[in-house]
Amino acid sequence: MLREWDATTYDSLPLPHLRWGRRTLGRLSFAGDETVLEAGCGTGRDTEALLGELPRGRVVAVDGSARMLERLRDRLADQPGRLDQVQAIQADLTRPLPIDEPADAAFSVATFHWIHDHDALFANIAGALRPGARFAADCGGKGNVATVRAAIEDVLGEPEETWHFAGAEETRERLERAGFTDVEVDLVPDPARLEPGAQFHSYLATVVLGAQLDRLPPAEHDAFVDAVAARLGEPVVDYVRLIFTAKRAG
Ligand SMILES: C[S@@+](CC[C@H](N)C(=O)[O-])C[C@H]1O[C@@H](n2cnc3c(N)ncnc32)[C@H](O)[C@@H]1O
Repeated sequence: MLREWDATTYDSLPLPHLRWGRRTLGRLSFAGDETVLEAGCGTGRDTEALLGELPRGRVVAVDGSARMLERLRDRLADQPGRLDQVQAIQADLTRPLPIDEPADAAFSVATFHWIHDHDALFANIAGALRPGARFAADCGGKGNVATVRAAIEDVLGEPEETWHFAGAEETRERLERAGFTDVEVDLVPDPARLEPGAQFHSYLATVVLGAQLDRLPPAEHDAFVDAVAARLGEPVVDYVRLIFTAKRAG
């Protein structure tokens, strides 16, 4: 499901995504001249970090949100030559990717749980990679934000089906079916604690509850976020990360 994001507020928050991005980047190594596909690049925080590893390389940065991509361009605009190394593409990862040449590696953080059809997703990524290319990713996995999900269900009175939090074994099988080998998958509990009050409210509204808010009238947004926060008690998001690496079969 493609949706727009409040990219400016997103970037102003203390995102655990920064840590997840560093950890995922640490699972890849580069000679410096590669082309890397970043799937769900958001505001370009990790795009910038990837470029730091690619002095002669490129990043093909794909995202479904125009506002996220605009923020990515703004982030890199005052860094000489940086934007020339980036091809920013607004596209849906559930469809074959409009990429000119196969990439040497793929990277993704905090994106895949927004996509239900992981078979199509992994096939599309495999189709955008050269044989032997490495793939490292992080996303919400089985059990992710379970207490937030229960709070949403309690407030809305209906099952919460926005996300797809896949397990480790099913992910391994899907990656292998899509043409990846050397698959390593982990599920890691990684809760994030925010400041209570305004910061937690803003974090929930911008990072976690955007899809639910899209379905509610704006006048009900604050009350909905407050009701979810009240049920959580502590300003904690109980993240469980699905972390994996794989290699495109040769
Ligand atoms: C939580 S943000 C993560 C962004 C960035 N990777 C980070 O760590 O800050 C999730 C991103 O996935 C993108 N996204 C979700 N579903 C998508 C899809 N089907 N195709 C392309 N992008 C998608 C959203 O637009 C959003 O920018």
